[in-house]
Amino acid sequence: MSSHIPVLLNEALDILNIKRGNIYVDGTLGGGGFSGEILKRLSPGGFLIGIDRDYSAVENARSALERKFDNKNFKLIHSNFSKIDEVVKAEGFTGIDGVVLDLGISSIQLEDGRGFSFNENGSGSSGGLDMRMDKENGLTAYDIINGFPEKTIADIIWKFGDEKFSRRIAKRIIGYRKNKPVETSLELADIIRGAVYKGYGKFKKFKTDPATKTFMALRIFVNKEYDSLTEFLEKLRNVLNKGGIAVIISFHSGEDRIVKHFLRNNLDFKPVNKKPIVPGEEEIKINPRSRSAKLRAFYHV
Ligand SMILES: C[S@@+](CC[C@H](N)C(=O)[O-])C[C@H]1O[C@@H](n2cnc3c(N)ncnc32)[C@H](O)[C@@H]1O
Repeated sequence: MSSHIPVLLNEALDILNIKRGNIYVDGTLGGGGFSGEILKRLSPGGFLIGIDRDYSAVENARSALERKFDNKNFKLIHSNFSKIDEVVKAEGFTGIDGVVLDLGISSIQLEDGRGFSFNENGSGSSGGLDMRMDKENGLTAYDIINGFPEKTIADIIWKFGDEKFSRRIAKRIIGYRKNKPVETSLELADIIRGAVYKGYGKFKKFKTDPATKTFMALRIFVNKEYDSLTEFLEKLRNVLNKGGIAVIISFHSGEDRIVKHFLRNNLDFKPVNKKPIVPGEEEIKINPRSRSAKLRAFYHV
């Protein structure tokens, strides 16, 4: 299993401008890359709260960070960043000085058999086609693909994936599941490729896999990712101290649009940069996942 390479890490740290005695939140702990860098810059008076909705991510990050840092300086919590106000209050703070969200999933999750990836296999609703970041949360991708009506599946793929072949893909899924349920991520990816490419089977080489957008749409829908981000932004004014900075790194246009609109309609927050920061060619070469990243930072006026 490969470890997660954080995207736009230096740019985020420059903007956060960590002050040794301040209070910070990493709302997307993941492999602990951002949290580790924040902790390096804190002194005993400072504090970091790390949040992840994936219990295994919290436990992995805990063992990595406890090896390097004094645990009096941080607390890691299994929760959703949409509950940032409750989490901060429960830790006894009235406000924080900075927060970072590095959205989406980590490379660790991509490879852990929950069906996030279309290049791996696995079966059953709890193993293969699952896609829940938090295993305690409701519907799985299996439930949607094997239980939802054709139109609803097509709408999900269209709305959250910007996939122009959404109707064709949904139709294929329904045709397939008349004979047997779609059990694995590999099976689903093949159904999608067949729906998009008539010649699929003969020409298996793609620059971007035709399953990419559908998989992303399912993940966003299963995890209610837009709702979490919207709720987080609505709560920020009550939790981020005046002058405090928020950094949000998004990986597709739907997420970035939510942040952009929020900034346009909220006079309590001012952007640090007019335009979003994007990775340079060098970073994209080393870490192709960074290709679609956009960083927006803003402070509480
Ligand atoms: C891209 S990874 C973060 C990687 C991390 N910055 C690092 O340096 O290793 C995103 C992480 O955020 C978590 N996550 C996504 N949405 C979340 C939410 N609404 N609340 C809490 N955690 C979330 C995922 O479970 C995943 O572990």
